Amino acid sequence: MSDSIQRAVDVLKAGGLVGMPTETVYGLAADANNVSAINKIFSSKGRPSGHPLIVHIAQAEVSVANDRQASAIAWREILSQWSRDVSPEALILAHAFWPGPLTMILPKAKHVLSEVTGGQETVGIRCPQHPIAQQLLKAFGGGLAAPSANRFGRISPTTAEHVREEFPGDEVLVLDGGPCDVGIESTIVDLTRLDSHGAVVLRPGAITQAMIEQALGRSDVTDGASVNIGSAPRVSGSLSAHYAPKTKLVLYDAKDAESLFSKVNNSDNKKVAWVHFPKDLADKNFGLKNVAKEVLLPLESKALARELYAMLRQLDALNMDCIFFEQLPDGVEWDAIRDRLGRASVGSGV
Ligand code: TXA
Ligand code: MG
Repeated sequence: MSDSIQRAVDVLKAGGLVGMPTETVYGLAADANNVSAINKIFSSKGRPSGHPLIVHIAQAEVSVANDRQASAIAWREILSQWSRDVSPEALILAHAFWPGPLTMILPKAKHVLSEVTGGQETVGIRCPQHPIAQQLLKAFGGGLAAPSANRFGRISPTTAEHVREEFPGDEVLVLDGGPCDVGIESTIVDLTRLDSHGAVVLRPGAITQAMIEQALGRSDVTDGASVNIGSAPRVSGSLSAHYAPKTKLVLYDAKDAESLFSKVNNSDNKKVAWVHFPKDLADKNFGLKNVAKEVLLPLESKALARELYAMLRQLDALNMDCIFFEQLPDGVEWDAIRDRLGRASVGSGV
């Protein structure tokens, strides 16, 4: 075991916090079975209590690689430590997508702390793919509760440096795993109401609804936005101003750009950033004047997901009056990013 993993394990065993790289975003990890460690997560983040955390677990060791039955047996054993009712669907999704950017909501096992579940009868579980997260989980030998390692309501961190910016003191030991490969938070799928609602995607991510439907062989995977989930906010994404930069972010449609830009160009000397795809507008000789910063977006959704949060952080640091961000194309591959951008721009206007 490397020195840094050993140090991180020591911190976790002592009830401390570790900045853990995952393939989605960095997490703020603590021992999932230690109440005071969990409380530290809430106080450090400034996160309201009652907001549930995801429990991260190590990968199942499967004796025969790719053998579905062996995989189901191994995952059932591990998941049973956290869930009182591990459905066949949960085992199928674990086999298909773990380790990876998928969080499953399952009925919680008795011992799971209510501080972790937000007092609910369910628990969110994810097996992350990042090798350092896996090394840490294996060496620690238990579950790690970890929200994204940002202060409440702010942009999730995708580099170790971002985590240090969020927690500049020495309360968090940060493991540097390089920039996150996926770049946006995991897909969350609720499997606790399969009979009445099917599988419900509470937060879109890199694992799409279609991928889940295909793995499960059922067509009733639904979008959480269309299902009334009743109680208080279960997913932080459901709070309006989430994932937000401090700077006002205006999402504009390319077809409205001309009138929008002429309004902006004729108003006072605002310091603006212009973020857009390298087509149409860029080729034409019109657009925003006095642009303090121009950013061209990658044409591929995975590349944008990977870069998005770092880009928003950099733009935020420039203290602009406004960021004009071109609306994303229609395809489903942009859905998860569209979701985050929509939340980042809530309440914005010119
Ligand atoms: O990619 C990710 O999921 C990252 C990395 C670190 O794993 N984590 C992350 O955690 O995004 P967080 O806490 O920022 O967002 C997880 C969301 C929370 O908003 C929470 O409401 C939801 O998952 N969640 C956790 N447990 C839940 C449960 N039992 N029922 C419904 N939602 C739950
Ligand atoms: Mg978060």
